[in-house]
Amino acid sequence: MNSTFTIALPKGRLGDVALKRLQAAGMAKEVNPSSRRLVFNDVSQAIRYMIVKPIDVITYVEQGVADIGIIGRDGILEAEADIYELMDLGFGQCRFAIAGLKDNMKIQKDETLRVATKYPRFTKTYFKNKGQKIIIIPLNGSVELAPLVGLSDVIVDIVETGNTLKANGLEIITPIQDISAKLISNRASYRFKYERIRHIIRLLDQTKEANT
Ligand code: PRP
Repeated sequence: MNSTFTIALPKGRLGDVALKRLQAAGMAKEVNPSSRRLVFNDVSQAIRYMIVKPIDVITYVEQGVADIGIIGRDGILEAEADIYELMDLGFGQCRFAIAGLKDNMKIQKDETLRVATKYPRFTKTYFKNKGQKIIIIPLNGSVELAPLVGLSDVIVDIVETGNTLKANGLEIITPIQDISAKLISNRASYRFKYERIRHIIRLLDQTKEANT
């Protein structure tokens, strides 16, 4: 283990679980998620950790700045990036779903549906395959607000506990796809740093049972 190896970790809910999992595997001891620092160096293992927005993990990995990263499969589906999915990490389970107001649950196929989402590309493809005309309302967060205030008819979003939908009087209309956290890598790192990647996969595999 000589050259520095870089891992991109997501901030937030998924990142907290990811970090616990890495730490259980004897890694990322120096990473402090409550600090404002964005880079943490583990000199003894020659690993650099970068803390980024979940959706940006894929960019850092695809561009080769990070060798591997942890990201929800929702981000992978949205980015359609040229990366390898190395491993399902067994946490971050949630699902893509169409959701809307309880008393507005019917989707009329002949009407153009206004869909608010943080996942415009995924949403566009999904509805295209269903033959449903839509207008995308792109948002960056708090998507559940959109149908409440008449910005959209429905949303396409990830649902984990369902608490955000419930708190805002929304319900799942159609579940789309189950998703979970993945370990990803770019092609070059997978090829040239294969041994290190395999080693990390083995460590994470060993802690899988204990942490899920
Ligand atoms: C995600 C997602 C939902 C919520 C679902 O948002 O977009 O809003 O979590 O989780 P739940 O089913 O457990 O309530 P996030 O917390 O990432 O915040 P955001 O709205 O700022 O994107």
